[in-house]
Amino acid sequence: MKKFSFLALFLSITITAFSQGNNYVQNYNKYENLALTPPMGWNSWNKFACNVDENMIRQIADAMVSTGMKDAGYTYINIDDCWHGGRDSLGFIYPDPVRFPSGMKALADYIHSKGLKIGIYSDAGSQTCGGRPGSRGYEFQDALTYAAWGIDYLKYDWCNTEGLKAEGAYKTITAALRRAGRPIVLSICEWGNDKPWEWGPQVGHLWRTTGDIYNCFDCIKDHGTWKAFGVMQILDKQDGLRRYAGPGHWNDPDMMEIGNGQLTPAEDRAHFSMWAMLAAPLIAGNDIRSMDKETQEVLTNKDVIAVNQDSLGVQGFKHETRDSVETWLKPMKNGAWAVCFLNRSTKVKSIEFNWQEKPIVDELSKRELNTAVRQYKMKNLWTKKDAGTTKKVLKATIQGHDVLMLALTEIK
Ligand code: GLA
Repeated sequence: MKKFSFLALFLSITITAFSQGNNYVQNYNKYENLALTPPMGWNSWNKFACNVDENMIRQIADAMVSTGMKDAGYTYINIDDCWHGGRDSLGFIYPDPVRFPSGMKALADYIHSKGLKIGIYSDAGSQTCGGRPGSRGYEFQDALTYAAWGIDYLKYDWCNTEGLKAEGAYKTITAALRRAGRPIVLSICEWGNDKPWEWGPQVGHLWRTTGDIYNCFDCIKDHGTWKAFGVMQILDKQDGLRRYAGPGHWNDPDMMEIGNGQLTPAEDRAHFSMWAMLAAPLIAGNDIRSMDKETQEVLTNKDVIAVNQDSLGVQGFKHETRDSVETWLKPMKNGAWAVCFLNRSTKVKSIEFNWQEKPIVDELSKRELNTAVRQYKMKNLWTKKDAGTTKKVLKATIQGHDVLMLALTEIK
């Protein structure tokens, strides 16, 4: 008996030591149970580009709490490109000592003390898009550093990756994060080049589906070697991708431009509503320290956020387009639906929508909006008013570039 237990102890120690010590066996799967609903937070890039420093980031964390954004569900404070200083003599990355004199660990501690989480940015190539040190060849070392700092979210970009295969490069950083041992959300930022929706769900929690967003509602910005896309152009590029999204793995149509000065209040509403319908990550990209009331109300509209954060995690779909007005639907838990009428023209449009006309069937979620079987009561998610029931034809006017967004709940 004694002999047997010695043997068992010996075997279990050997097996444990062997499996932990074998660095050739890697785990290429993301950490599970992170991002079960689309991540919500803030990112520095759209407003500040390379102009990031620890004082600003601390103030953003403060504002996240004081503006009610944290209460509305925003969690991540993500520092994008250009925080980097260089690599030390052993190759370990350190932040810019002038912009981040207290270091990243202190900043992470501060953000955590507010009940928030911290995100950082790197790149699969030799350099980031902003010309800072990339992680290529340093993946495991960087992952160890991020874990030691207390990082919760990594956006991993795709500049300067000539000759690399995207799936392999992202699997490498995932393996490195796994080995470092701290659960970190991985945001794949590969711009949709190599169909990240096909391999991304195992490797990361969200993947960019397109090139960068541009701060306009309906335009394309040609930068010469690359193009950036307005809100409507990004929306159109999501076509066909909804089946790849779900709890823990999301299509990412890029960070929001709400409050960055180029969109009208109607366009801000439309942008936010559509990101909610797409079950997109809600990453604010404005200066939340000084945003006006209108912007704050858009970003913290709890009813619209509830559509985005619905636990079913089904991305919405475009049902039809009539005279420049698109009708989008999103199935939600407890038999509910979100419906959003998006007026893409600059002119006021009158709509009439007859819920009785024919059932709307969503093959993906196996859900049906069929008023012959069930009626719904409706709430306008922007005015917060009761919007009647599906028993009557819906009649409304929608301003140019605005939305009418409704939540439909079953009448029992
Ligand atoms: C790329 C990304 C952007 C941003 C910049 C930073 O363009 O797509 O979201 O991170 O790099 O340089």
